[in-house]
Amino acid sequence: MRILRSSKLMAVAACTVIASAGLAVSQVATSSNKAVAARHAQMQVIGYHIGVLGAVAKGEMAYDSAMVDAAATNIATLATLQRPPMWTDGTEQGAADGSRAKAEIWSDPGGFADGFAVLEKAALAIVGAADSGAVGAGMGDLGGACKACHEKYRGPKN
Ligand code: HEC
Repeated sequence: MRILRSSKLMAVAACTVIASAGLAVSQVATSSNKAVAARHAQMQVIGYHIGVLGAVAKGEMAYDSAMVDAAATNIATLATLQRPPMWTDGTEQGAADGSRAKAEIWSDPGGFADGFAVLEKAALAIVGAADSGAVGAGMGDLGGACKACHEKYRGPKN
């Protein structure tokens, strides 16, 4: 019972992250720079899939193991996209229209790569979740991966 309650709390916490990410999507009109627009699309597709998992965790969408595994696997796959074509030099915040990418992405590429590795691991941990409670239990780490990277490598609203 206690485990169930704490996993629900984590799901709620993760959904707060999702809600604010969703707000950013509706407010930011991506970019005229194609690399910036492409990485925004990468993030939006990640955000879509965490939304699916959050809906299952909250009981708003019926638990379906194949759907859960597919959504979690898609996030893991998106976390492993090769970065150079989208995170191109000279597209940090202030240098390219619509970008909120901090310069630290380029000065600390290892740390940025680690952030995606943490996301991949958190997503893969949800693959095989046996019920909505198990999905909820994984949402804390998943939402935490988004938050940790955004705090370090994403700049303020433009
Ligand atoms: C390793 C770093 C990293 C991780 C992990 C990460 N993000 Fe991001 N995200 C960024 C950066 C950097 C930006 C800003 C990019 C820019 O504006 O050029 C961003 C932007 C976004 C945006 C705005 C896209 C737009 O259209 O402007 C959304 C939505 C988003 N992230 C959702 C998520 C969600 C949800 C997760 C977790 C499931 C996540 N991100 C994980 C680094 C990360």
